[in-house]
Amino acid sequence: MKVPLLDLKPQYNFLKEELDAAVIRVAESQYFILGPEVEKLEKSLCEYLECKYAFGVSSGTDALLVALMAIDIKPGDEVIVPDYSFFATAGVVSRLNAKPVFADVDPVTFNIDPMDFEKKITTKTKAVIPVHLYGQSCDMDSIMQIASKHKIKVIEDAAQAIGVQYKDGRCVGTIGDIGCFSFFPSKNLGCFGDGGLVTTNDKELAYKLKILRVHGGEAKYYHKIIGGNFRLDALQAVVINVKLPHLDSWSEARRRNAQLYSKFFIEAGLSEEEGKIIFDDKNKVLLPKAVYKSSGVKNYHIYNQYIIRVENRNELKEFLTQNNIGNEIYYPLPFHLQECFEYLGYRKGDFPVSEDLANTTLALPVYSDLTEEQIEYVVQTINKFIRK
Ligand SMILES: Cc1ncc(COP(=O)(O)O)c(C=O)c1O
Repeated sequence: MKVPLLDLKPQYNFLKEELDAAVIRVAESQYFILGPEVEKLEKSLCEYLECKYAFGVSSGTDALLVALMAIDIKPGDEVIVPDYSFFATAGVVSRLNAKPVFADVDPVTFNIDPMDFEKKITTKTKAVIPVHLYGQSCDMDSIMQIASKHKIKVIEDAAQAIGVQYKDGRCVGTIGDIGCFSFFPSKNLGCFGDGGLVTTNDKELAYKLKILRVHGGEAKYYHKIIGGNFRLDALQAVVINVKLPHLDSWSEARRRNAQLYSKFFIEAGLSEEEGKIIFDDKNKVLLPKAVYKSSGVKNYHIYNQYIIRVENRNELKEFLTQNNIGNEIYYPLPFHLQECFEYLGYRKGDFPVSEDLANTTLALPVYSDLTEEQIEYVVQTINKFIRK
């Protein structure tokens, strides 16, 4: 049996007529950049996320960059980011000649550890970027409380977490000062290329975000501030407009798949409970845990990635690949050990949880069209590897 890490073809076939028609409509209209389709998308996403303002931008990376520009991050400012995330979270800070300061992450949620975040605050700290990694909310109560105590802005990186609800029902990306989303094809709501979104409930920040994405001006060729080309194009917007009504059912299917994995792993005797963080037996598989599951909100986790932990991760990766099972290591090297951040002076051992995750995590297929048989096959294959 073949189990790809991600197969978007069934999703495309399901929506083919609508998607093809929408793409042709853009070609017929010859309206390619921003315009009515992007505005329609922004309105729908304000309603879906329950926030006041949303602006389509060119990617999740640019969403983060434009957010930092909107809060006036300057050279020498410090911005705290989790040590374990996709590169963009830290890269955008350096691109503004500010200093990324790393904080360790929580071993259960893989999200920024609020206590370590607070420890890293100095007089130069201007912002924190909590990342709702793999589709689960950070501990936003603690983060917002610490940020407000120290007068620090909160830029939420919700690139992997569109629709995720915090335990109080609010969507992530609408809790801090600015929320950043990605429509990269592998995200739960993916377009046909690159795309992103910024959200805010603050009128002044909204105005800045809106003009920053078009070179910092309202009227053409008159520039109030220095911005860039961070525009979303109409082709991407129509694709998202077609897909958005289905997002929650796709995320629900991913939750079902995650539950099936847990059930099969536990039945096979490979795992005990979700969220265990210690390897007391090297043949065990540690399962991810949805910490806000008991809160009663529907989208307590959207499983953009389903991440297990195993001690002999690299060998398992090879075995799964040989057996036609797609898998990926997110992320093999934490920020503080990346060559480009050597100048920051961190050393191996500085962030024990993040280093441990980089050495033991493996993403398994979890996309919405996966079948129960495929999930069972993945677990059986892992069982074969462990017991051989
Ligand atoms: C956590 C996180 N932040 C930012 C990004 C950047 O998004 P994009 O690829 O749309 O630029 C991604 C995308 O993979 C991500 O996973």
